Amino acid sequence: MADNIGNKAAHDYHLDVPAAQEGFFVKGASHCDFGMKSRLARIFNPRSGNTVMLAFDHGYIMGPTAGLERIDLVIPPLIPHVDVLMGTRGIFRSCIPPAARVAKCVRMTYDSTVLFDDMSNGGGFACDLENALRTDADCVAVQTFIGAPGESRSLELLCRTADAATRYGVPTLGVVAVGKDMERTERFFLLATRVLAENGANIVKSYYCDGFERVAASCPVPIVIAGGKKLPELDALEMAYKAIRDGAHGVDMGRNIFQSDCPAGMAQAIGKVVHEGYTPKQAFEVYEEVKNSK
Ligand code: 5RP
Repeated sequence: MADNIGNKAAHDYHLDVPAAQEGFFVKGASHCDFGMKSRLARIFNPRSGNTVMLAFDHGYIMGPTAGLERIDLVIPPLIPHVDVLMGTRGIFRSCIPPAARVAKCVRMTYDSTVLFDDMSNGGGFACDLENALRTDADCVAVQTFIGAPGESRSLELLCRTADAATRYGVPTLGVVAVGKDMERTERFFLLATRVLAENGANIVKSYYCDGFERVAASCPVPIVIAGGKKLPELDALEMAYKAIRDGAHGVDMGRNIFQSDCPAGMAQAIGKVVHEGYTPKQAFEVYEEVKNSK
């Protein structure tokens, strides 16, 4: 676009002014209707305003990922410690007990598998809204590839999903993907998170970065952060702590929970940071306590 050169740089994020909220606690949702608000209130805890989402959808591109070889054994014991499960409809149907009292986020799109060097071609629909609702979805997720070859296709999938889901009061989670050649800078996340919100995402999943407070302030809907590759437990807790401190409304974390040597301890420790403001050190003690009690 001719207009991408010579523009004034964005700079005034009013970090000291909270987001406008009129009568409903989830950012950007004050003007939504009842069903949307009700589902958002199942995702975000009304007391803390935050959420712990447990992502275990990695098999959709990676096959049997470490820690997820047997989802039927690994994930159900973690359910009491999280607010939301994020997975594919195939795994919900086959491995998750339908009686579990937990919110569900169903992945709507597929992408190329890890057998391809470039997975960011934009993919396609893996599931339609009817199927997501039959899987009891409280939320539907679409992966997007901002700045990569799949950008346009994935934004189309996001917009079509948000159209369909809004009709039924189901929130859409827009996921910012970071491919191997994609930037992981404040500049990139500022742009990507805002683009997703403007195109219909009610929640955005992104990554923590330096300058995250500006990313969170300029995104008009809640951001939850992904964990990324497995870190030492204390480092992962530190990242979650900083993200919440800087304006995230939760985590959507996978490997840093299910690849931990004590997934239940890590899920509970993350919950303490996200919902109760524990410091990383205090939360690490929770993790160790649970681990040592096993
Ligand atoms: C991929 C996803 C995954 O669910 C996500 O990466 C979360 O898992 P992790 O914390 O292991 O990165 O949305 O885009």
